[in-house]
Amino acid sequence: MSEQVFLQHLEEVLDQKIERAPLAKGQTGFAFFNGALQYFFVDKESLTASSYRPLSFDFGSMFEILEQQKRKGLSPGPLLKALKLSKKVKIVDGTCGSGEDTAFFLFHGAKVLALERDPRVFALLLDAHRRAREDSQALVRERAERLEIIHADVFNSSCAIEKFAPDFVYLDPMWEFEQRKALPRKEMKIFAQILQRPLSQEEFLQEIKRHLVGYKVVLKRSRKHPKGPLVNASYAGKTTRYDLVLA
Ligand SMILES: C[S@@+](CC[C@H](N)C(=O)[O-])C[C@H]1O[C@@H](n2cnc3c(N)ncnc32)[C@H](O)[C@@H]1O
Repeated sequence: MSEQVFLQHLEEVLDQKIERAPLAKGQTGFAFFNGALQYFFVDKESLTASSYRPLSFDFGSMFEILEQQKRKGLSPGPLLKALKLSKKVKIVDGTCGSGEDTAFFLFHGAKVLALERDPRVFALLLDAHRRAREDSQALVRERAERLEIIHADVFNSSCAIEKFAPDFVYLDPMWEFEQRKALPRKEMKIFAQILQRPLSQEEFLQEIKRHLVGYKVVLKRSRKHPKGPLVNASYAGKTTRYDLVLA
């Protein structure tokens, strides 16, 4: 497929004009679209339409979804209980990813220090944060003001975490890519292909014991995973469990 044909196809899939052409087959790249940074990822093996979709995060949309769920009276679930979310709570989101959980914490009034080790994911988060701080809605700007994002490994950030003095450290790493019945959402499918190999449960708990002593760590896991010795309390949803780990 020539680059021109490829780009035309990409424009059709996206239904947008591409300002810059970052890609050839099997490559990746960033481009700005409608004022938002997008990361293009094309799977080497399968040049399918879905693999052209760029990755981009948007806190405004995430807040809107949470507003809709609240209006419909949907229960916010076990995460709210696990982190005792309120206006006074300070949370380190040590594995920020697409920022969805961070958005949830901000929505419920918390102050958040978010850490992300992957530079590409971090770039997208920074851009999303910039747009949220400049949003036309005061509520979105206020929530964004309660967030700080840094490019760092949570297990190598003791100074920043100590300075922030969190009530909880929340961790939702990618566990070794599990076979799931339901298809994971787009972000997770791309993450599974581009990110550093995730740690096993045992390795991850060792890192918590080594680097997060004295903190209340809330670890997101599947309900199927055994709890292990450090778990102090558990808050389970349908498929997910939030374990309070005291290292
Ligand atoms: C499953 S995703 C997190 C999803 C996130 N909770 C959300 O709502 O989108 C895992 C993310 O954590 C990051 N990550 C994994 N281990 C990390 C570590 N030790 N320090 C910082 N970030 C880490 C990965 O790069 C990835 O972006």
